[in-house]
Amino acid sequence: MRGDEAAMAEAVAQGERGRFTAAPNPWVGCVIVASDGEVVGRGFHQRAGEPHAEVHALREAGERARGATAYVTLEPCAHQGRTPPCAPALVDAGVGRVVVAVLDPDDRVAGRGVDILRAAGIAVDVGVGAGAAARSLAPYLHHRRTGRPLCLLKTAASLDGRTAAADGTSQWITGPDARADAHRLRAESGAVVVGAGTALADHPSLTFRNLAFEDGLTPAQPLRVLLDASGRVPASGPLFDPTLAPTLVITSPRVAPGAVAAWKAAGAEVEDVAAAPGAPPFTGAPASPSGPAVDLACALEVLGRRGILQAMVEGGATLHGALLRAGLVDRLVVYTGGVVLGAEGRPLFAGPGPGTLDGASRWRLTAVRELGPDARLDWEPLEPGDLGGSPASSEARSGGSPASREGDSGGSPASREGD
Ligand SMILES: NC(=O)c1ccc[n+]([C@@H]2O[C@H](COP(=O)([O-])OP(=O)(O)OC[C@H]3O[C@@H](n4cnc5c(N)ncnc54)[C@H](OP(=O)(O)O)[C@@H]3O)[C@@H](O)[C@H]2O)c1
Repeated sequence: MRGDEAAMAEAVAQGERGRFTAAPNPWVGCVIVASDGEVVGRGFHQRAGEPHAEVHALREAGERARGATAYVTLEPCAHQGRTPPCAPALVDAGVGRVVVAVLDPDDRVAGRGVDILRAAGIAVDVGVGAGAAARSLAPYLHHRRTGRPLCLLKTAASLDGRTAAADGTSQWITGPDARADAHRLRAESGAVVVGAGTALADHPSLTFRNLAFEDGLTPAQPLRVLLDASGRVPASGPLFDPTLAPTLVITSPRVAPGAVAAWKAAGAEVEDVAAAPGAPPFTGAPASPSGPAVDLACALEVLGRRGILQAMVEGGATLHGALLRAGLVDRLVVYTGGVVLGAEGRPLFAGPGPGTLDGASRWRLTAVRELGPDARLDWEPLEPGDLGGSPASSEARSGGSPASREGDSGGSPASREGD
């Protein structure tokens, strides 16, 4: 086979096969190439508790792994989890060389996997294909470095950037292809988050539906997360139907006790986090009756502790605006539909803007796709700190190239129910 870059690209493609099901573990891929260039083993991590990518690839390679080169998208693990560590397994199989795209910032690994291999006399190269592997593993890397899930904000907007008509109606701005694509985003997210305004207006179920998955690997439904500081949303409707998916309400200490009891009686979990200090006043929809809103950084930390690697936020404009101003948005996916809603329609981000262009947050376009009559645009913040967020927020956006982060142990306060 071809060179290191091509072999690692194949390992990344293998890893992608586990994207919907591996979380809370990373969707790692591995290929093993014999000295004559033949690919003798391929593997990807399918589900937490099941063998890691390296083990699948070594099993397929058998004796032909001896003296071969293993390409792994993430540093092989050094610790015993629910399955044995992979670095010693590569040593035992007698591979001659290991090529790693990205070091693992999990503090139980953080260079130890590479150390085990080198101590056994195996040649190790780090950083080959790091850009593609880091993009593939971005939610995992972000989670391990910050303790928070990667925050992906998704919205459907009109041609003039409106997310609902003046009366609050928003179903539907885009067509079936865009909506099916958004369901795939739900399926790859550990949590789908909405604000109280959206829950009241749209009565969403927040589940993914009508999707087919390769390899028979159907993921669990995401955790539905409602942010309701005051207890405005009644414990009824699809969002509180536990047969569809689990529900977590993140609320504040100011919530009415009756609301908490009703949510719990409906089968939802409830977490209380601090109310955001000096939360900006709400400007687009019915004002919150109870003062400060849920602290958004705390809410994301709650999800991080539950092992959520990617949180998909689905509106509305009030929540989006607050996340933007807090500097907590890591990715923005905008589905643009061919409809015009006018100046009275609801914005994409409610709340105060920069006042002048010099103060505007800037974003980089990372992908464009046509979906039937609509378009999907993917954006990322241009630079950390560009959004004028809090110190916590710039840390939250620290998902840069892992090649430049070798040895970053990052700290990992997250739950360890995976592996
Ligand atoms: N086009 C789209 O993609 C799309 C998607 C979703 C929604 N929508 C539309 O958007 C509208 C609803 O949006 P909305 O702006 O009225 O409401 P929203 O953003 O869904 O919810 C805002 C509410 O969330 C609660 N919240 C808790 N903590 C918060 C925090 N830190 N920051 C901000 N909010 C926090 C607050 O209520 P409490 O004080 O009670 O906690 C707040 O009033 C509907 O018309 C819906 O159809 C469109």
